[in-house]
Amino acid sequence: MDRIAITGGAQLNGVIPVSGAKNSAIKLMAASLLTDEPLRLTNMPRLADTRFLGKLLTRLGVSVTESDGPDGQQTILHAPEITSGFAPYDLVRQMRASFNVLGPLVARSGQAKVSLPGGCTIGARPVDLHLQALEALGAKIDLHEGYVYAQAPRGLKGAEIVFPIVSVGATEHAMLAAVLADGVTVIRNAACEPELVDLQECLNAMGAKVEGAGTPTVTITGVARLKGATHSVIPDRIEMGTYAVAAAMAGGEVRLTNARPELIESLSVKLEEAGATVVRTEDGVIVKRNGSRLNAVDIETAPFPGFATDLQAQFMALMTTANGESHIRETIFENRFMHAPELMRLGADISVHGGEARVRGVAQLEGAEVMATDLRASVSLVIAGLVARGETVVSRIYHLDRGFERLEEKLGACGAQVRRIKGDGEPEL
Ligand code: EPZ
Repeated sequence: MDRIAITGGAQLNGVIPVSGAKNSAIKLMAASLLTDEPLRLTNMPRLADTRFLGKLLTRLGVSVTESDGPDGQQTILHAPEITSGFAPYDLVRQMRASFNVLGPLVARSGQAKVSLPGGCTIGARPVDLHLQALEALGAKIDLHEGYVYAQAPRGLKGAEIVFPIVSVGATEHAMLAAVLADGVTVIRNAACEPELVDLQECLNAMGAKVEGAGTPTVTITGVARLKGATHSVIPDRIEMGTYAVAAAMAGGEVRLTNARPELIESLSVKLEEAGATVVRTEDGVIVKRNGSRLNAVDIETAPFPGFATDLQAQFMALMTTANGESHIRETIFENRFMHAPELMRLGADISVHGGEARVRGVAQLEGAEVMATDLRASVSLVIAGLVARGETVVSRIYHLDRGFERLEEKLGACGAQVRRIKGDGEPEL
């Protein structure tokens, strides 16, 4: 398996173009199941996760064609008919969000059998709210031997869906199913993440009638059929935030482009509080730090527009060398501090008590061999490696490849000493 080696000490100076958002792209790809006409997605990231979903969609009857189009990387998805409503365990477990094909499959063809995704290193991550939403829309749901069997032979019916807690995936899933339902669906306590707005824009371009995404109430008036469309994937706010933190960590000046500053405002405020400079520009941000040590600041993760849980690990890495003690509270997932013991291998001083980590800044980290445990945890180790003395080698980087497009190239272009060590194909223990 490949590893990434980082030699610490180089400042970052340059421009990093932000890719399209993984977490939006995979839901938009699932929307292709809703129409017999082609859906062209532009600003598409090329990632392991989009490949996994492409593989599953192909099995369901979607042709998936990646190419370089007139406006950059594009994927054209075309499902003239659904040839199978079966999403097997081996494909769904590789990428949990594959579960979101369930709603579109039932909406379009009245039935589906989709594997439950199972657990995850960052938390139990149940899908009860997804199923609750589909049942509210009139689908009959049965669970057998690890699979969800869903049926709605006479189609889905508009309904009121009230989520007891905010869930990004369940809100998206409800939207994907309700667009073809008969009547009006109102989703209350909906997630407000920018990816929901992106999904609404894409569905509306396909002929759907969705309003309110980005607010806690989303209203969907069902239509009989959807058509093909072209849609540009929203910039990846987590990739953008990750490089913003990397720049603050390593020092120097990095301009992030092809993005939007408001997507990471809650992070920018914390970076400024810590002593970095953040300039909001028309298409992103410029992050600078000139020499002086950052101050420790506290963060608490929350649904958008709060501090993103997907940036918590990166911010913890930043705090490992800040001046003072920082408190980091994780409120979205119950087990999202797996990076803490790995950061401690680099010399960080961290103690974890339940959902809170206390980070006491140290003057210098030391390079070491560390192991990635999930996508965002892995990149936090790369960020720490940017300032650690000597070499940091991160293994199990297949996690990184799931969500960061051309990471070594993007960091390398700004002066970071990052290289991929090709593996021998042997799995790591
Ligand atoms: C999305 O996950 C993202 N994944 C996550 O990014 C992100 O961390 C998360 O939203 C929160 O922003 C994708 O978009 C593919 P949730 P999702 O449903 O939709 C509980 C990354 O690194 N819950 O908003 O699965 C759940 O356990 C990933 O890119 C239920 O109890 O998150 C969690 O505690 C990691 N029942 C909370 O809700 C349900 O049916 C929020 O989860 C669904 C969720």
